Amino acid sequence: MKVGDRHYHTIWLNTDGLSVDIIDQRWLPHEFKIVTLKSVDDVAVAIRDMWVRGAPLIGVTAAYGVAIAMHEDASDQALDAVWDKLHETRPTAINLKWALDEMRTLLRPLPLGERAAAAYRRAGEIAEEDVELNRNIGLNGLKIIREIAARKQPGEVVNILTHCNAGWLATVDYGTATAPIYLAVEAGIPVHVYVDETRPRNQGAQLTAWELNGHGVPHTLIVDNAGGHLMQHGQVDMVIVGTDRTTANGDVCNKIGTYLKALAAKDNNVPFYVALPSPTIDWTVKDGVKEIPIEERTGDEVSFVQGRGPDGKTVSVRISPEGSPAANPAFDVTPARLITGLITERGVAKASPEGLKDLFPERN
Ligand code: MRU
Repeated sequence: MKVGDRHYHTIWLNTDGLSVDIIDQRWLPHEFKIVTLKSVDDVAVAIRDMWVRGAPLIGVTAAYGVAIAMHEDASDQALDAVWDKLHETRPTAINLKWALDEMRTLLRPLPLGERAAAAYRRAGEIAEEDVELNRNIGLNGLKIIREIAARKQPGEVVNILTHCNAGWLATVDYGTATAPIYLAVEAGIPVHVYVDETRPRNQGAQLTAWELNGHGVPHTLIVDNAGGHLMQHGQVDMVIVGTDRTTANGDVCNKIGTYLKALAAKDNNVPFYVALPSPTIDWTVKDGVKEIPIEERTGDEVSFVQGRGPDGKTVSVRISPEGSPAANPAFDVTPARLITGLITERGVAKASPEGLKDLFPERN
């Protein structure tokens, strides 16, 4: 998508053909920085400390991490070591494990001398596939937005609420939850997006708002607690969020606070959609609440907020008393019964075992 007049992906192979360049998301929206990841350690830090974030982008970054590892040492031990090291960086987003498994399964049978080239090739393909998956999610989600628009007066705006950042910054391009929105804007459908700020890391305020701004998508930033009120007053036509892991039963794990939005949507008959590419489905897990490990991050993310200081640089300030402990579960699980539909690259599935299996029969 666009940054100024230039088209960017969030990650790409450096011109040296070995390292990877990323948009360093820690500094957005105030500073746009690109950094180069040269080693497996660099990749692990970038994922763990959220220089890159969002389930699909975490997966792609990890795939490139495996390629970098294979260039350094293509042995089986090195392959297992990079799998372990990157896997432990962020426990909830399943795309990480999906990408690591994909790479290891491909590389293990190959002769050592062929592994590095094959790894870079596959990492590049995974990145390209992500773009295509998101475009198709966009086309499928666009149909829903069109239907809502068709029930309104001509020219009346479709109001969409989203939580966290499931935009192009969370993927390679397009985003998942934002893909239908970008395509709706392209198709001339009037849309307006309510952007949850998404405490504690404020991905909505810092990333989603920045993206939508960059693409001229009408939007309004709201505090996380405002969504229920807006829904009660008929100001939200639909919710679209992303997901870090969706179970075979259709339970959706996503950024903390998603569950409360789904409850409010149910109470107000507002359709609640989740946009996801198939690598985000964890077919080995059924009950999301009981089985998905929830990442616990440092309480400092709650006790401090980050913003622009008077010199234009990004600064962090404490908002709670010294000595008050803070808890920071990063994700929650929305049970399938609260979800209207799962927007995937193959179509819109009911959030149920049958709904998912109908779209992905090879998983039966
Ligand atoms: O902690 P983050 O910023 O990686 O969390 C991101 C989200 O929760 C996204 O909504 C999710 O990964 C889907 S991204 C297409």
